[in-house]
Amino acid sequence: MAAENKLELTHISKGFPGVQALDDVSFQLKKGTTHVLCGENGAGKSTLMKIINGLHQQDSGDIFVDGKKVVIQDPLHARKLGIAMIYQELSFVPDMTLEENICLGHWPMKGNALVDWKAVRTNTLQLLKQEGFNYPPDIKLRSLSVSDIQVIEILKAVSINAGIIIMDEPTSAITSKEVENLFVKIEALKKRGVSIIYISHKMDEIFRIADEITVLRDGKIIETRAKNDIDEKTTIELMVGRKIENQYPKKEIPLGEEVLRIKDWSSDGVFQKVNFNLRKGEILGFAGLLGAGRTEVMRTLFGLDPCTAGEITVAGKPRRIKNVQQAMGAGLAMLSEDRRRYGIVPLMSVSENVALVALDKFITNGRWYKRREYETVSAICQKMRVKTPSLDTKVYSLSGGNQQKVILAKWMVRDPEILILDEPTRGIDVGAKSEIYQLMTEFVEQGKSIIMVSSELPELLGMCDRIYVMHEGALTGMLNRNEFSQKAVMQLAVQSAG
Ligand SMILES: Nc1ncnc2c1ncn2[C@@H]1O[C@H](COP(=O)(O)OP(=O)(O)OP(=O)(O)O)[C@@H](O)[C@H]1O
Ligand SMILES: [Mg+2]
Repeated sequence: MAAENKLELTHISKGFPGVQALDDVSFQLKKGTTHVLCGENGAGKSTLMKIINGLHQQDSGDIFVDGKKVVIQDPLHARKLGIAMIYQELSFVPDMTLEENICLGHWPMKGNALVDWKAVRTNTLQLLKQEGFNYPPDIKLRSLSVSDIQVIEILKAVSINAGIIIMDEPTSAITSKEVENLFVKIEALKKRGVSIIYISHKMDEIFRIADEITVLRDGKIIETRAKNDIDEKTTIELMVGRKIENQYPKKEIPLGEEVLRIKDWSSDGVFQKVNFNLRKGEILGFAGLLGAGRTEVMRTLFGLDPCTAGEITVAGKPRRIKNVQQAMGAGLAMLSEDRRRYGIVPLMSVSENVALVALDKFITNGRWYKRREYETVSAICQKMRVKTPSLDTKVYSLSGGNQQKVILAKWMVRDPEILILDEPTRGIDVGAKSEIYQLMTEFVEQGKSIIMVSSELPELLGMCDRIYVMHEGALTGMLNRNEFSQKAVMQLAVQSAG
């Protein structure tokens, strides 16, 4: 193999029951470069990375690190080989401290059996200083935000002197400013000769950070090219294997009567006096910076958190919403941002998960209409291109993006009057995104309504009829479709409520 290759994979294959996740994959990672791996949900990206990190074993094929063939036993072994991975689904122990988390698995020792806590502290402090962070080393992870934890995962990779760092959708939960920080960090790591494999569905990121781009589809390598030899459009076409004509299939349909009115909606210290209304057939957007309070407002509307003041009127009737049952009774449904906690039951099958909140549609007078359930679930999963061996497959074994689609399918089947979507396309590939927008369009065409909270401005601008903007717990403005622009939204997003 060429001397500049830090890592080389040859003819790697891996099957799971019912799926060939990887099929004869060969891949080279050059020293001191960033190699982006992209592909649709379920293409095999995470599986390939888990093989490099020793979490899965390949069925066939070889791995070479620095030109030497290795058989990677487990993640600890991978770490010894200088491989670190930042997972798509962050996993950490909330009660651990930062320094424990960083030294986990490679504790400095006093003699054979005693952890050298003094060294733990000094090593951590030195690392924090070297990397320009000022977290206290004994802070508990539970008190940090997801983005802080992502930063710490990177610190951890640096602490083991990793020569190869794998980042599986590292920016799914961080703000644009933190993305900038991450990119600066990546450049610095590259200068030190570190090689990075970067997985993302965000095209703008891919094209900023990549030296090389590899596209995977259905477990096969489709193409590897230098960034300068490929453009965004071609990448997308290679990923999805078809042309995407219209990313945002927005139809401007005549809006009907008001279905929801929120008056002086407040939660002490979180958001104040939020007022808005929603009409039949409308897609209403909520924009704002991370932490502006959008999610918190939606959570109280759906009865997940208490609100302290305010009135809610649904279809002209005043309502009390103190819990999720009452919210669902009022015709609301919500796809929550925190999918792992409120989204799926991992050990249940795809069809059980989808049917879960709409059981009354399939069980009538004590009789279970199994066939009706199967047909409904199968139709929606086909529409959303959920990639699964069967509807009986357990959800935990699906790829990250396909788990998200299952949750969205679940709320679509419930068929509520008002659907609240919090970051509906996070982690979803470009092809499936346009299917989801199409489903949203069909949903409002029936006279139903959608509230969409999103950090992706293009999708808000592409799909909404009106956009409300929040800043620090207050509404700062509302834009009609004919007033939409990135600039107008951003101005409202950083301005204080008047
Ligand atoms: N532990 C597992 N058991 C069974 N099947 C699995 C397992 N892990 C992954 N798969 C299957 O392997 C295929 C590839 O999944 P993988 O997670 O690698 O996709 P991905 O490219 O990372 O997708 P995403 O963009 O959605 O994260 C999928 O069909 C998935 O269902
Ligand atoms: Mg993945």
